[in-house]
Amino acid sequence: ERPLRVALLGCGVVGSEVARIMTTHTDDLTARIGAPVELAGIAVRRTGRVRAGVPQELITTDATALVKRGDIDVVVEVIGGVEPARSLITAAFEHGASVVSANKALLAQDGAALHAAAEARGVDLYYEAAVAGAIPLIRPLRESLAGDKVNRVLGIVNGTTNFILDRMDSSGAGYSEALDEATALGYAEADPTADVEGFDAAAKAAILAGIAFHTRVRLDDVHREGMTEVTAADFASAKQMGCTIKLLAICERAADGRSVTARVHPAMIPLSHPLASVREAYNAVFVEADAAGQLMFYGPGAGGSPTASAVLGDLVAVCRNKLAASTGPGESAYTRLPVSPMGEV
Ligand code: HSE
Repeated sequence: ERPLRVALLGCGVVGSEVARIMTTHTDDLTARIGAPVELAGIAVRRTGRVRAGVPQELITTDATALVKRGDIDVVVEVIGGVEPARSLITAAFEHGASVVSANKALLAQDGAALHAAAEARGVDLYYEAAVAGAIPLIRPLRESLAGDKVNRVLGIVNGTTNFILDRMDSSGAGYSEALDEATALGYAEADPTADVEGFDAAAKAAILAGIAFHTRVRLDDVHREGMTEVTAADFASAKQMGCTIKLLAICERAADGRSVTARVHPAMIPLSHPLASVREAYNAVFVEADAAGQLMFYGPGAGGSPTASAVLGDLVAVCRNKLAASTGPGESAYTRLPVSPMGEV
C-alpha cells in the first residue's frame, strides 16, 4: 500500500503555488481525499528559475521520464501551450495516470481527442483552471447542470481586457493609455496579443461551449473580434445610451436547437445587467438553463493562488476517483484512511 503520487509539470506562477499548498496543507488534502497524497516530482524547463519555497529535491528537467516512471497516479500540467503538454498528457494516460490541466490552448484545440484518450484508459481529465481561474464553471456545467438543458453561456472570461475596458470606462482613457496601465500593474503581458485580440477568450469560449452543449467546438469554430478598436468615443456613446462596453464570450444554441455558435467580441451592455458591474480584472459568466433559469458565476479569473485553488480542487476530485476505482476495501493499491462525512475537524 502506498500514497497517491502526483507529478507536477511546470513550476511558474501557478505551479509553484500548487507545490506550496501541496507541501504545506498536506494533512487537509489527505483528509479531503481519504488517502495520503505525495508530490513525487516537479518538472521544469530550467532549474535556475525555481521559486523559493518549492522543494528543490523534487525538481527535474526531464518531464517525460517523470511522467513515464510508472508509479505516478496523477499528472498536474501547468506548462501551457500545445507542445510538449499534449505529448506529456498523452504519455500520462498511457501510463494509467489521471490528468489535471490548466491548459486552455490545448483543450480548445484537442479537448475531444484528449477526452477520448483518457476514457480509453479509464482515467480522468479535469481542467477547471483552464477557464476563469478560481471560478467553479467546468464542473458545475459538466456535473451540477448535467440533468438540465443549457441554452446560453455568456460572460467576461478575460481579466486583462476587462481591466483595460473598465479603465477606459471610468477614466475616459484611450485604449493605449489603459493598456499601458494594465502592463505596468502586471495584468497585461509584454505581448498582449492573445488577450486584446480575443484569442484567450475564444479558447475559453470553445471549451465552455463544448461542455455546455455536449458537442465538439474548437478554437477555429469561434468567431473572434478583439477590443483594440474600442475608443473613448465609443464609451461616451455607450454612456449616453445607459450602457457600457465589455468583451464578451457568447455561446448559444441556435433557435432551431440543431446547432451551436460561439463568438467573442466587444458588446454594449446595459448598466442594469449584472455583467456591467464586473470591474477591474474580475471574470463573470452567466449561464441560462431550461430548469435552473439564470445563474451567475463571479470571481478572480487569473493569478497564481486563484488558479492553484481550481487545480487543487481537481486534484482532490481525481484522487478520490482513483481511490474509488481501485479494488474494494482492503484490496486497494493505496493507503485508505477512514473518513467521517465531515472529514477531520
Ligand atoms: N490572460 C488571461 C486573462 C489569464 O487576462 O484573463 C487567465 O487565463
